Amino acid sequence: MRKKVIAGNWKMNKTPVEVITFMRSFVELMKNKKTENEIVLCVPYIDVIITQQFLEETNVKVGVQNVHFAESGAYTGEISPRMLDGIGVEYVIIGHSERRQYFNETDESVNKKLKAALAHNLKPIVCVGESLDQRTAGVTKEFVTSQVRKAFEGLSAEDAEKTIIAYEPIWAIGTGKTASKEDANEVCKWIRGEINTLFGNVSENIIIQYGGSVKAANAAELFNMPDIDGGLVGGASLDPEEFFKIVNFDA
Ligand code: 13P
Repeated sequence: MRKKVIAGNWKMNKTPVEVITFMRSFVELMKNKKTENEIVLCVPYIDVIITQQFLEETNVKVGVQNVHFAESGAYTGEISPRMLDGIGVEYVIIGHSERRQYFNETDESVNKKLKAALAHNLKPIVCVGESLDQRTAGVTKEFVTSQVRKAFEGLSAEDAEKTIIAYEPIWAIGTGKTASKEDANEVCKWIRGEINTLFGNVSENIIIQYGGSVKAANAAELFNMPDIDGGLVGGASLDPEEFFKIVNFDA
């Protein structure tokens, strides 16, 4: 039985002072709640340390939203996997559609970053998903398959198994338009099939999340689908009570 992994992606939101306000409520709520679900908050780099300090009292893990593929060097403004490992960050989002769209992230850079993250024992969350045009044109599965194949190129089955995939249809991100639970499950199942073709039985253990306008009101119906192993949550993870409800969805 796969566990559910629910990760918040704060994107470019919250100053350290705003983190303190969030954490005062969130940690209080989480203290009295035991959940089997793995819970992660992927925060801006500058919020990592304050977030870690607050979450120490809980079993919530800390992640970030991007990583460079090199160990160190002349890459002004970048953060390496070794640096993240060095401050105890556990998770890293790779290839989010916003990074692909605004920062020229490619399937090739996603593949390099994935390998670098795994080499430093970070737990990667690799994002894939189609645009509205692609969905309308009926090429969702082909497109997502190509993203998965290129991201996982050259990985061992053991490393593939450690990688979380977040299926995030671009048209559902930040729009309030959630994919139906059937549509979301169909693509997650398809991705699992592709992992099976590439790596065999590890496909039964790999975590595949759904992301795109997840909120407390729809988390349970999505996360209870057989091939959806939790979610990647943007806007709704910024509010402590809303995120608390999402991570404690009715199973
Ligand atoms: P929203 O939940 O705000 O739609 O964002 C989804 C997302 O991009 C998470 O990575």
